[in-house]
Amino acid sequence: MLSSGPRSEAATLTNPRRMSAQIISGRVIGEHIRAELRERIAALKAEGVTPGLATVLVGANPASQMYVGMKNKAAQEMGLHSRQINLAPDIDEAELLGMVAGLNADPGIHGILVQLPLPGHVDEGLVLETIHPSKDVDGFHPMNVGRLATDSGDFFAPCTPAGVVEMLLRSGHDPAGKHVVVVGRSNLVGRPLASLLLRKGRGGDATVTVCHSRTEDLGAVTRAADILVVAMGRPESITADMVRPGAVVIDVGTHRVDDPHAEKGYRVCGDVLFDEVKDVAGAITPSPGGVGPMTITMLLANTVTSAERALEGRRN
Ligand code: GUN
Repeated sequence: MLSSGPRSEAATLTNPRRMSAQIISGRVIGEHIRAELRERIAALKAEGVTPGLATVLVGANPASQMYVGMKNKAAQEMGLHSRQINLAPDIDEAELLGMVAGLNADPGIHGILVQLPLPGHVDEGLVLETIHPSKDVDGFHPMNVGRLATDSGDFFAPCTPAGVVEMLLRSGHDPAGKHVVVVGRSNLVGRPLASLLLRKGRGGDATVTVCHSRTEDLGAVTRAADILVVAMGRPESITADMVRPGAVVIDVGTHRVDDPHAEKGYRVCGDVLFDEVKDVAGAITPSPGGVGPMTITMLLANTVTSAERALEGRRN
Protein backbone atom coordinates (compact mmCIF):
# COMPACT_ATOMS: atom_id res chain seq x y z
CA MET A 1 0.00 0.00 0.00
CA LEU A 2 1.49 3.33 -0.98
CA SER A 3 1.02 5.98 1.62
CA SER A 4 3.23 8.32 3.58
CA GLY A 5 3.27 7.33 7.18
CA PRO A 6 1.40 4.45 8.74
CA ARG A 7 -1.29 4.90 11.38
CA SER A 8 0.24 6.22 14.55
CA GLU A 9 0.35 3.36 17.00
CA ALA A 10 0.70 5.80 19.89
CA ALA A 11 -2.44 7.68 18.87
CA THR A 12 -4.33 4.40 18.56
CA LEU A 13 -3.23 3.28 22.01
CA THR A 14 -3.95 6.56 23.74
CA ASN A 15 -7.32 7.21 22.15
CA PRO A 16 -8.77 4.25 20.29
CA ARG A 17 -11.84 6.17 19.10
CA ARG A 18 -9.77 8.88 17.36
CA MET A 19 -7.47 6.93 15.07
CA SER A 20 -5.66 9.03 12.53
CA ALA A 21 -6.34 8.14 8.91
CA GLN A 22 -3.96 6.54 6.42
CA ILE A 23 -2.44 9.45 4.50
CA ILE A 24 -2.55 8.87 0.74
CA SER A 25 0.35 10.81 -0.73
CA GLY A 26 0.18 12.00 -4.33
CA ARG A 27 3.93 12.65 -4.22
CA VAL A 28 4.75 9.05 -3.29
CA ILE A 29 2.27 7.46 -5.72
CA GLY A 30 3.22 9.92 -8.47
CA GLU A 31 6.88 8.95 -8.10
CA HIS A 32 5.99 5.26 -8.56
CA ILE A 33 4.08 6.07 -11.74
CA ARG A 34 6.98 8.22 -13.00
CA ALA A 35 9.36 5.30 -12.45
CA GLU A 36 7.11 3.16 -14.69
CA LEU A 37 6.95 5.96 -17.25
CA ARG A 38 10.76 6.20 -17.38
CA GLU A 39 10.86 2.60 -18.59
CA ARG A 40 8.24 3.27 -21.26
CA ILE A 41 10.09 6.41 -22.37
CA ALA A 42 13.36 4.45 -22.62
CA ALA A 43 11.61 1.82 -24.78
CA LEU A 44 10.24 4.54 -27.06
CA LYS A 45 13.65 6.19 -27.35
CA ALA A 46 15.16 2.84 -28.29
CA GLU A 47 12.75 2.93 -31.25
CA GLY A 48 13.84 6.47 -32.13
CA VAL A 49 10.79 8.22 -30.63
CA THR A 50 11.04 10.94 -27.98
CA PRO A 51 7.58 11.81 -26.63
CA GLY A 52 6.91 15.51 -27.23
CA LEU A 53 4.62 17.82 -25.27
CA ALA A 54 3.64 21.31 -26.45
CA THR A 55 2.08 23.73 -23.98
CA VAL A 56 0.40 26.91 -25.13
CA LEU A 57 0.06 29.82 -22.72
CA VAL A 58 -1.98 32.84 -23.76
CA GLY A 59 -1.38 35.96 -21.67
CA ALA A 60 0.30 36.33 -18.31
CA ASN A 61 -2.11 34.98 -15.70
CA PRO A 62 0.30 34.23 -12.79
CA ALA A 63 -1.41 30.95 -11.81
CA SER A 64 -1.45 29.74 -15.43
CA GLN A 65 2.22 30.74 -15.84
CA MET A 66 3.08 28.73 -12.75
CA TYR A 67 1.11 25.63 -13.85
CA VAL A 68 2.52 25.66 -17.39
CA GLY A 69 6.03 26.12 -15.98
CA MET A 70 5.54 23.11 -13.68
CA LYS A 71 4.25 20.97 -16.56
CA ASN A 72 7.23 21.80 -18.76
CA LYS A 73 9.71 21.26 -15.96
CA ALA A 74 8.21 17.84 -15.19
CA ALA A 75 8.31 16.89 -18.89
CA GLN A 76 11.96 17.92 -19.16
CA GLU A 77 12.92 16.05 -15.99
CA MET A 78 11.44 12.90 -17.54
CA GLY A 79 13.45 13.32 -20.73
CA LEU A 80 10.47 14.35 -22.86
CA HIS A 81 10.79 16.89 -25.63
CA SER A 82 8.87 19.91 -24.36
CA ARG A 83 7.95 23.09 -26.12
CA GLN A 84 6.31 26.05 -24.41
CA ILE A 85 4.62 28.60 -26.63
CA ASN A 86 3.85 31.95 -25.02
CA LEU A 87 1.32 34.11 -26.81
CA ALA A 88 0.19 37.69 -26.25
CA PRO A 89 -3.12 38.12 -24.37
CA ASP A 90 -4.67 39.91 -27.37
CA ILE A 91 -3.71 37.23 -29.89
CA ASP A 92 -6.13 36.77 -32.76
CA GLU A 93 -8.33 33.68 -32.43
CA ALA A 94 -7.46 32.69 -36.01
CA GLU A 95 -3.74 32.96 -35.24
CA LEU A 96 -4.15 30.73 -32.16
CA LEU A 97 -6.12 28.17 -34.18
CA GLY A 98 -3.37 28.23 -36.82
CA MET A 99 -0.77 27.62 -34.13
CA VAL A 100 -2.73 24.59 -32.88
CA ALA A 101 -3.11 23.27 -36.44
CA GLY A 102 0.68 23.52 -36.84
CA LEU A 103 1.20 21.46 -33.69
CA ASN A 104 -1.36 18.90 -34.94
CA ALA A 105 0.79 18.43 -38.04
CA ASP A 106 4.13 18.27 -36.18
CA PRO A 107 5.26 14.60 -35.88
CA GLY A 108 7.60 15.49 -33.01
CA ILE A 109 4.67 16.64 -30.85
CA HIS A 110 2.49 13.91 -29.32
CA GLY A 111 0.62 15.99 -26.75
CA ILE A 112 -0.87 19.48 -27.01
CA LEU A 113 -2.11 21.42 -24.00
CA VAL A 114 -3.66 24.87 -24.26
CA GLN A 115 -3.76 26.25 -20.74
CA LEU A 116 -7.21 27.40 -19.57
CA PRO A 117 -8.78 29.82 -18.99
CA LEU A 118 -8.33 31.64 -22.28
CA PRO A 119 -9.01 35.38 -22.69
CA GLY A 120 -12.68 36.25 -23.24
CA HIS A 121 -12.32 37.16 -26.92
CA VAL A 122 -11.23 33.61 -27.78
CA ASP A 123 -13.78 30.80 -28.20
CA GLU A 124 -12.41 28.22 -25.77
CA GLY A 125 -14.57 25.39 -27.13
CA LEU A 126 -13.42 26.05 -30.67
CA VAL A 127 -9.77 25.97 -29.60
CA LEU A 128 -10.24 22.68 -27.75
CA GLU A 129 -12.04 21.18 -30.75
CA THR A 130 -9.16 22.21 -33.00
CA ILE A 131 -6.65 20.11 -31.08
CA HIS A 132 -6.49 16.70 -32.81
CA PRO A 133 -8.14 14.13 -30.50
CA SER A 134 -5.07 11.87 -30.81
CA LYS A 135 -2.90 14.66 -29.31
CA ASP A 136 -5.44 15.97 -26.80
CA VAL A 137 -3.59 14.85 -23.66
CA ASP A 138 -5.90 17.02 -21.53
CA GLY A 139 -8.85 14.85 -22.62
CA PHE A 140 -11.06 17.90 -23.26
CA HIS A 141 -11.89 17.34 -26.98
CA PRO A 142 -15.55 16.27 -27.43
CA MET A 143 -14.34 13.08 -29.14
CA ASN A 144 -12.36 12.10 -26.03
CA VAL A 145 -15.18 13.21 -23.71
CA GLY A 146 -17.67 11.12 -25.71
CA ARG A 147 -15.49 8.04 -25.89
CA LEU A 148 -14.86 8.19 -22.15
CA ALA A 149 -18.59 8.61 -21.46
CA THR A 150 -19.49 5.68 -23.73
CA ASP A 151 -16.40 3.67 -22.74
CA SER A 152 -15.52 2.98 -26.36
CA GLY A 153 -12.33 3.08 -28.41
CA ASP A 154 -9.07 4.85 -27.57
CA PHE A 155 -9.34 8.10 -25.64
CA PHE A 156 -7.48 10.31 -23.22
CA ALA A 157 -9.06 10.85 -19.81
CA PRO A 158 -8.59 14.28 -18.18
CA CYS A 159 -5.55 14.25 -15.92
CA THR A 160 -7.02 15.16 -12.54
CA PRO A 161 -9.79 12.51 -12.47
CA ALA A 162 -7.39 9.94 -13.95
CA GLY A 163 -5.02 10.80 -11.09
CA VAL A 164 -7.78 10.31 -8.52
CA VAL A 165 -8.51 6.82 -9.85
CA GLU A 166 -4.81 5.87 -9.81
CA MET A 167 -4.50 7.11 -6.22
CA LEU A 168 -7.41 4.93 -5.14
CA LEU A 169 -6.09 1.84 -6.89
CA ARG A 170 -2.51 2.23 -5.76
CA SER A 171 -3.37 2.96 -2.13
CA GLY A 172 -5.42 -0.24 -1.87
CA HIS A 173 -8.87 1.31 -2.26
CA ASP A 174 -10.23 -0.19 -5.47
CA PRO A 175 -13.54 1.58 -6.19
CA ALA A 176 -15.13 -1.57 -7.70
CA GLY A 177 -18.43 -2.28 -5.97
CA LYS A 178 -18.06 0.71 -3.66
CA HIS A 179 -20.37 3.70 -3.33
CA VAL A 180 -18.33 6.68 -4.51
CA VAL A 181 -19.80 10.12 -3.89
CA VAL A 182 -18.32 12.89 -6.06
CA VAL A 183 -18.94 16.44 -4.91
CA GLY A 184 -18.72 18.74 -7.94
CA ARG A 185 -19.98 18.42 -11.52
CA SER A 186 -17.31 20.34 -13.46
CA ASN A 187 -16.14 19.26 -16.90
CA LEU A 188 -12.57 19.22 -15.55
CA VAL A 189 -13.13 16.85 -12.63
CA GLY A 190 -16.61 15.77 -11.47
CA ARG A 191 -18.20 14.63 -14.73
CA PRO A 192 -15.18 12.80 -16.21
CA LEU A 193 -14.46 11.21 -12.83
CA ALA A 194 -18.01 9.86 -12.68
CA SER A 195 -17.53 8.43 -16.20
CA LEU A 196 -14.22 6.79 -15.24
CA LEU A 197 -15.70 5.23 -12.11
CA LEU A 198 -18.68 3.87 -14.04
CA ARG A 199 -16.57 2.07 -16.66
CA LYS A 200 -16.25 -1.67 -16.60
CA GLY A 201 -12.90 -3.00 -15.46
CA ARG A 202 -9.79 -1.47 -13.87
CA GLY A 203 -10.57 1.63 -11.82
CA GLY A 204 -14.30 1.38 -12.54
CA ASP A 205 -17.30 -0.72 -11.53
CA ALA A 206 -18.26 1.71 -8.78
CA THR A 207 -21.71 2.90 -7.77
CA VAL A 208 -21.51 6.64 -8.35
CA THR A 209 -23.44 9.59 -6.95
CA VAL A 210 -22.61 13.11 -8.17
CA CYS A 211 -23.50 16.07 -5.91
CA HIS A 212 -23.46 19.76 -6.77
CA SER A 213 -24.42 23.19 -5.49
CA ARG A 214 -28.14 22.40 -5.73
CA THR A 215 -27.93 19.10 -3.84
CA GLU A 216 -30.24 19.15 -0.83
CA ASP A 217 -28.77 17.99 2.49
CA LEU A 218 -25.27 17.47 1.12
CA GLY A 219 -24.10 15.92 4.41
CA ALA A 220 -26.71 13.16 4.20
CA VAL A 221 -25.37 12.18 0.78
CA THR A 222 -21.65 12.47 1.63
CA ARG A 223 -22.17 10.37 4.78
CA ALA A 224 -23.39 7.52 2.57
CA ALA A 225 -20.03 7.34 0.75
CA ASP A 226 -17.52 4.54 1.06
CA ILE A 227 -15.26 6.81 -0.98
CA LEU A 228 -15.81 10.57 -0.98
CA VAL A 229 -14.15 12.68 -3.69
CA VAL A 230 -14.45 16.41 -3.15
CA ALA A 231 -14.03 18.84 -6.03
CA MET A 232 -16.38 21.64 -5.06
CA GLY A 233 -13.90 24.52 -5.13
CA ARG A 234 -14.69 25.87 -1.65
CA PRO A 235 -12.02 25.83 1.07
CA GLU A 236 -12.47 23.46 4.02
CA SER A 237 -16.18 22.89 3.33
CA ILE A 238 -16.33 19.19 4.14
CA THR A 239 -16.36 18.78 7.90
CA ALA A 240 -16.03 15.67 10.08
CA ASP A 241 -19.79 15.31 10.57
CA MET A 242 -20.19 14.92 6.77
CA VAL A 243 -17.94 11.85 6.59
CA ARG A 244 -18.76 8.29 7.51
CA PRO A 245 -16.23 6.84 9.98
CA GLY A 246 -13.65 4.82 8.03
CA ALA A 247 -14.49 6.34 4.63
CA VAL A 248 -11.77 7.14 2.08
CA VAL A 249 -11.61 10.90 1.40
CA ILE A 250 -9.96 12.33 -1.71
CA ASP A 251 -9.59 16.12 -1.71
CA VAL A 252 -9.20 17.70 -5.16
CA GLY A 253 -9.24 21.30 -3.89
CA THR A 254 -6.23 23.58 -3.51
CA HIS A 255 -6.74 27.06 -2.08
CA ARG A 256 -4.66 29.83 -0.67
CA VAL A 257 -6.40 31.26 2.37
CA ASP A 258 -5.35 34.21 4.53
CA ASP A 259 -3.80 33.17 7.80
CA PRO A 260 -2.33 35.84 10.06
CA HIS A 261 -0.61 33.10 12.11
CA ALA A 262 1.29 31.75 9.09
CA GLU A 263 4.73 33.14 8.27
CA LYS A 264 3.68 34.17 4.75
CA GLY A 265 0.28 35.48 5.85
CA TYR A 266 -1.49 32.63 4.05
CA ARG A 267 -1.68 28.87 4.03
CA VAL A 268 -2.69 26.30 1.44
CA CYS A 269 -5.67 24.04 2.10
CA GLY A 270 -8.17 21.85 0.29
CA ASP A 271 -11.95 21.56 0.07
CA VAL A 272 -11.83 19.27 3.13
CA LEU A 273 -11.24 20.42 6.70
CA PHE A 274 -8.26 18.09 6.97
CA ASP A 275 -7.41 18.41 10.67
CA GLU A 276 -10.92 17.41 11.63
CA VAL A 277 -11.74 14.85 8.94
CA LYS A 278 -8.49 12.89 9.34
CA ASP A 279 -9.76 11.71 12.74
CA VAL A 280 -12.90 10.22 11.18
CA ALA A 281 -11.75 8.98 7.76
CA GLY A 282 -10.02 5.64 7.22
CA ALA A 283 -7.78 7.21 4.58
CA ILE A 284 -7.38 10.76 3.30
CA THR A 285 -5.32 12.80 0.84
CA PRO A 286 -3.61 15.96 2.09
CA SER A 287 -3.74 19.24 0.21
CA PRO A 288 -1.13 20.22 -0.82
CA GLY A 289 0.67 16.95 -1.60
CA GLY A 290 -2.35 14.90 -2.62
CA VAL A 291 -4.18 15.07 -5.94
CA GLY A 292 -2.16 18.07 -7.20
CA PRO A 293 1.11 16.20 -7.94
CA MET A 294 -0.90 13.41 -9.61
CA THR A 295 -2.36 15.73 -12.24
CA ILE A 296 1.01 16.52 -13.82
CA THR A 297 2.08 12.88 -13.60
CA MET A 298 -1.03 11.84 -15.55
CA LEU A 299 -0.32 14.50 -18.17
CA LEU A 300 3.10 12.91 -18.68
CA ALA A 301 1.45 9.48 -18.80
CA ASN A 302 -1.02 10.60 -21.48
CA THR A 303 1.82 12.09 -23.54
CA VAL A 304 3.79 8.84 -23.35
CA THR A 305 0.65 6.86 -24.30
CA SER A 306 0.12 9.17 -27.26
CA ALA A 307 3.70 8.58 -28.45
CA GLU A 308 3.22 4.80 -28.07
CA ARG A 309 0.01 4.95 -30.11
CA ALA A 310 1.76 7.01 -32.81
CA LEU A 311 4.58 4.45 -32.99
CA GLU A 312 2.08 1.59 -33.15
CA GLY A 313 0.18 3.41 -35.89
CA ARG A 314 3.39 3.77 -37.91
CA ARG A 315 4.00 0.04 -37.65
CA ASN A 316 0.51 -0.91 -38.89
N1 GUN B 1 -6.49 25.03 -16.21
C1 GUN B 1 -6.73 24.49 -14.98
N2 GUN B 1 -6.56 23.15 -15.03
C2 GUN B 1 -6.22 22.85 -16.31
C3 GUN B 1 -5.93 21.63 -16.96
O1 GUN B 1 -5.95 20.53 -16.39
N3 GUN B 1 -5.61 21.74 -18.29
C4 GUN B 1 -5.61 22.92 -18.95
N4 GUN B 1 -5.31 22.91 -20.24
N5 GUN B 1 -5.89 24.07 -18.35
C5 GUN B 1 -6.19 24.03 -17.04
